[in-house]
Amino acid sequence: MAGQDLMPSGPPQHRAYRILQLTDLHLRDPAERTLLGVDTEESFLQTLACALHDGAPPDLLLLTGDLAEDPSPHCYQRLQAQLQRLPFPSLCIPGNHDDPKIMAQHLMSDEKGIVSHYQLGPWKLVGINSARPDLPSGLICQDELTRLRLIIDQAQEPYALIALHHHPVESGSPWMDRMRLMNSKDLLNLVTESPKVRGLVFGHIHQEMDLLWGAIRLLGTPSTCVQFAPGADVFKLDQKPTGYRWLILNDQGNIDSIVVRAIDLDDQICLTERQESANG
Ligand SMILES: [Fe+2]
Repeated sequence: MAGQDLMPSGPPQHRAYRILQLTDLHLRDPAERTLLGVDTEESFLQTLACALHDGAPPDLLLLTGDLAEDPSPHCYQRLQAQLQRLPFPSLCIPGNHDDPKIMAQHLMSDEKGIVSHYQLGPWKLVGINSARPDLPSGLICQDELTRLRLIIDQAQEPYALIALHHHPVESGSPWMDRMRLMNSKDLLNLVTESPKVRGLVFGHIHQEMDLLWGAIRLLGTPSTCVQFAPGADVFKLDQKPTGYRWLILNDQGNIDSIVVRAIDLDDQICLTERQESANG
């Protein structure tokens, strides 16, 4: 299903494509269930439900990594069962907490089209893997950079949006920025050379980011579970509710985007566990 075209349901001109991004689900095995006191499966499902009450359904659900805190087959099978119930396709990308191999075996082989790239009218959405084994920081390997360049160069679509897990520029939180994408120059040089690329969207930072790199939009998105405090020198949680992002891609190559906050979890977060999870 790679490259499948989602046929527009509206008029052929001035059609906008709606992507719903959810990120950093940190799903756990049933024996553990909670992360920092939060039932992460429940917070994911409630955040998704909020988003689906926002208005028109998305054309695509984008999940940008850390889908599992415990990357077991069981975790991904449970997520796949949830995604299969949705009347729209999903694109899933691994994060530093995921196991890309187990994820591919149990989640990304879905016949509905959980794929590495997707066509939405004049847009090509490309998911890339920035996760590396046993390290919280990110790196896009040479093969993955080559694959990205090929997809962009060969795309018939005039516009492209790239999705990955790790943030490619500093967030302003030194502890988090030690876990950013380590070869961000390679990625930023590549996308800057292509006028097709209009944005990079990512997770990992558990907070909102929206800035420009030249003409390219850089968009970071809150987690569906716990949030990290902006500007913190060391690991620190934020009291903000869970969140998600809408990306509206229009046929002129522009991206409209908004972060929406969903579920207040502050009464669930366990103070005694607050310092235990510090790797995004
Ligand atoms: Fe995360």
